[in-house]
Amino acid sequence: MKTIFITGTSSGLGKAAVQLFHSNGWHVIATMRNVEKAKDFAGMERVTVLPLDITNEEQIKTTVAKAIGLGSIDIVLNNAAYGAIGPLEGMSQAQIAQVVDTNLLGAIRVTQAFIPHFRERKSGLFINVTSMAGFLTFPFASIYSAVKFGLQGWSEGMNYELAPFGIRIKTVAPGYIKTEFGSNTLIVPAEPYKPMMDRFLSVIADPALAQQGSTAEDIAAVVYEAATDGKDRVHYVAGKDAHMLHDRRLAIGAEAAIKEIAQQFLG
Ligand SMILES: NC(=O)c1ccc[n+]([C@@H]2O[C@H](COP(=O)([O-])OP(=O)(O)OC[C@H]3O[C@@H](n4cnc5c(N)ncnc54)[C@H](OP(=O)(O)O)[C@@H]3O)[C@@H](O)[C@H]2O)c1
Repeated sequence: MKTIFITGTSSGLGKAAVQLFHSNGWHVIATMRNVEKAKDFAGMERVTVLPLDITNEEQIKTTVAKAIGLGSIDIVLNNAAYGAIGPLEGMSQAQIAQVVDTNLLGAIRVTQAFIPHFRERKSGLFINVTSMAGFLTFPFASIYSAVKFGLQGWSEGMNYELAPFGIRIKTVAPGYIKTEFGSNTLIVPAEPYKPMMDRFLSVIADPALAQQGSTAEDIAAVVYEAATDGKDRVHYVAGKDAHMLHDRRLAIGAEAAIKEIAQQFLG
């Protein structure tokens, strides 16, 4: 039986991934900050719930050791993250550092903790959930994009040093997913930017835009594909909207794509 270790499984994509891998016969180690949120996994016999805040180095050590103690791990899915929207001028250094600490350093820490285990067993796969904001940008999401671009680049680069040991890293870059993400997003207003930000927020609140998005189950299916297709491939784009924007940027070039996004979101 194969085992996957997943971060951020209390809601959204992480939770859907637990359900999908479990229904396909996997043992799932579902980690979350607050294990009281694991009620929906009650009665799922091959799900082990462990506590994990990916910003907590000590807890990473303990939880990874416990997970490895249960048996060999095949895949680590770095999923946990949260959104951040707002002009840079309005963000405190602490808010910026927290986004980097969670969304980038969190995945790096968990990966580093598992590398010795994967190296000893001469195989293993890391799948990092990035975003379409990891290959293109939107207004007021500069810090989120900085971190997701970073995660894309870091994941790609890690393959050079890990491949000789039979270890690989893949990314899954989703478009909009209907999850708790919006309500968990840090939104930072700043007065001089208010008219621009109001315009941006009204465009992203348009139900037509949300309709192009995906369910958590749709994106979990792409994660499952990346986990099981055996392909020597690094990047996976997930969701109709992400594919559309990805292909458009390739077709017209980054400069023209940036202008199109400015027009669409800021008018
Ligand atoms: N939703 C979208 O539109 C969208 C688009 C592109 C990419 N993504 C990416 O998809 C992934 C999953 O997001 P989602 O849409 O499923 O959002 P979500 O429903 O808000 O789930 C995020 C999960 O991350 C957890 N988390 C946050 N900070 C954590 C920390 N320090 N340690 C451990 N867990 C932490 C949350 O746990 P708590 O319950 O403890 O807060 C929650 O379980 C993220 O990487 C996100 O960036 C989402």
